Amino acid sequence: MSRPIHLPPILETLAELRDTLSEMRHAQKRIGFVPTMGALHEGHLSLVRASQAECGVTVVSIYVNPTQFGPHEDFSRYPRTLDFDLHALATCDRTPLLVFLPKNESMYPEGFSTWVEPGPVAEPWEGQIRPGHFRGVATVVLKLFNMVGPDIAYFGQKDYQQATLIRRMVDDLNLPVKIRVRPTVREPDGLAMSSRNRYLSPEDRQRALVLWKSLCLAKELVASGQRDAATIVAQMEDLIRTVPEARIDYVALVDPDTLASVAQVHGRTAALIAVKLGATRLIDNAVLDPTGI
Ligand code: PAF
Repeated sequence: MSRPIHLPPILETLAELRDTLSEMRHAQKRIGFVPTMGALHEGHLSLVRASQAECGVTVVSIYVNPTQFGPHEDFSRYPRTLDFDLHALATCDRTPLLVFLPKNESMYPEGFSTWVEPGPVAEPWEGQIRPGHFRGVATVVLKLFNMVGPDIAYFGQKDYQQATLIRRMVDDLNLPVKIRVRPTVREPDGLAMSSRNRYLSPEDRQRALVLWKSLCLAKELVASGQRDAATIVAQMEDLIRTVPEARIDYVALVDPDTLASVAQVHGRTAALIAVKLGATRLIDNAVLDPTGI
C-alpha cells in the first residue's frame, strides 16, 4: 500500500513565519534554511536532507527574486512549478519542514531602496557578465536571513561564486548564521543539476556534457602534474570548442576564496566555467587539489 502524501505547510506572511518559528525556537529546535527559487531538483533536495540531518526544523523558501535578473534575462520565463515542488518536498519527511512563499510586497515594498553592495568577490566572472546579479542575490539572501533567523543555511557548490559571496557577506556583516556549502548533484552522465537544464533541447542536453568533461580534463591534468593555469585553461577551452554550438563565456582557474585568477595550481584552486548553448547559459565548477583528491 502506498503511503499517503503529506504536503509541507505553507507560510506566506512574515508574521505567520515568525510565530511558527518562535514556537520551534522555544522548543530548542535548531532552524535550518534552504533558500530556493523553486523548480526544485535533486540538488535542492540534497540541501533539504542535509538540513534535516542536523536541524530540528527546516525552512525552504521559494521566491523567484526579480532583482537578481538582468533586463534581458529569463525572469518572466523562469520555471514556476509550485505544485511539483511541494510534492518533491513531501518526500523529505525526516524532520519537520516549512515552506515559506514570501510575496513581492514584503520583499520589495513600495519605496524599497536599501541594498547590499557585495565587494570584489562579486566583480569577475558572473558579476562581469550579469551586472547587478549579485547585488540582487546578496540583498534577497540577507532579507531572507532576517526573516527566517536560521541557525544554519545551506547552499549548493554549483553556484560557486554565489556561495563564496554569501560566506563573505556573513563574515563581513557578522550575521549569526552558519553557512554549509554542499557538493553539486549531477545526473548519472555528469551534467550538473540545474533548474535551467529543462530549457535545453535534446541535442543541447547532449552537448552540455562538455562542461563536466572539461572539468574532468582539468582534474586529470592536475593529477598528472600540470601546474600551469594558462595551459590547463587552454586545453579545457580546446575541448569545449570541439562542440561548435557551445559559446564560452569564461573558463578560469581561481583562488577558491577570493576568486582572483591564479597563474599556477599550487593549493586548492577552483575551476569555473560558463558556456551558452542556444539561449541557455550553463555554469559549472570543480575544486582542483594538487595534493591529492
Ligand atoms: O541560488 C538560488 O536559487 C538563488 O540565487 C537564491 C540563493 C535563492 C537567492 O534568490
